Amino acid sequence: MPEAPDAVETLRREIEAETIESEEEAEAFRIAYLGRKRGKIGALFDRIPDLDPEARPAFGKAVNALQDDAQAKLEAARERLADEEGDALPELDLTLPGRPPAPAGSLHPLVETLDEVSGIFERFGFSVAEGPEIEDDWHNFGALNFPPDHPARDMQDTFFLEKHENDESDERLDVVLRTHTSPMQIRVMEEGEPPFRVVVPGRVYRNEALSYKSYCLFYQVEGLYVDEGVSMGHLKQTLALFARSFFGDDVRTRFRPSYFPFTEPSAEMDVWWETADGAGQWMEILGCGMVHPNVLEHAGVDPEQYTGYAFGMGIDRVTMLRHDITDIRTLYENDVRFLRQF
Ligand code: PHE
Repeated sequence: MPEAPDAVETLRREIEAETIESEEEAEAFRIAYLGRKRGKIGALFDRIPDLDPEARPAFGKAVNALQDDAQAKLEAARERLADEEGDALPELDLTLPGRPPAPAGSLHPLVETLDEVSGIFERFGFSVAEGPEIEDDWHNFGALNFPPDHPARDMQDTFFLEKHENDESDERLDVVLRTHTSPMQIRVMEEGEPPFRVVVPGRVYRNEALSYKSYCLFYQVEGLYVDEGVSMGHLKQTLALFARSFFGDDVRTRFRPSYFPFTEPSAEMDVWWETADGAGQWMEILGCGMVHPNVLEHAGVDPEQYTGYAFGMGIDRVTMLRHDITDIRTLYENDVRFLRQF
């Protein structure tokens, strides 16, 4: 058996060399060194009575210090182990089904149709422009050849933002929510020089009784083509080609004469729509015509030199046709059960 002071040193080195990596090892450490009955430190205390009386205080002090250090080492290890347990990942269960990816949003069917229609005309060489939804009377009506107090203005039930007591002169100061995208014909021509070849997607507003087929706002795509020698033949050919690109090669279309103050002659284009039960009907999708000479003049384009065609397509109608939607209001209610289908 080593001399008593050496025994303390030896045990100190042994304790310092111990590693404690688990609760079990911590408990084993406690029993081996700090255990009341057979702990190794306790065994050192047991030797005190055998020592010279002068040597006892120093020895006792050394063993006490060793006991404190061993206790501190044990406590530090237990703290560390508790922390590590908190950080540890819960056990992985590889048989659990994966988490479904968060549902991705999608474009609203109207936006999808607007983009697609504009895209087809872009491939035909048209550019895309957008304009204000709040318009002055001149751009929405006057410049488009609606006479000041002509009933033609009643064709479009208008939301007025400012309504003035207009006198008999042509000067009308009313401010409106645009009732169609046609005012952009004027804005485009005012701002540039012919030739013009542009489509204008946008939102328009009308004060109509709400029903399955009309809503107080809807979407149009306006088209304008102005150059030397543009004819009704160009108009028909372009729109027929559009219909084939959009609806498919077997689409059937027809033109019917119509009336708009800003085109002469004017027409409407229908597409033949077959329902699942084999029945079918002609559905109107756009109004069109040759730009009225007064309109060219109002926008600063010489009608002696230039002619042009214009059209305005109802995007809601076209969207409803291709998706078999029977009530226009569902397009504006933002019911996710409806929107999720697209
Ligand atoms: N602006 C007309 C409407 O909203 C459509 C149209 C546009 C007709 C261009 C002819 C030319 O009904």
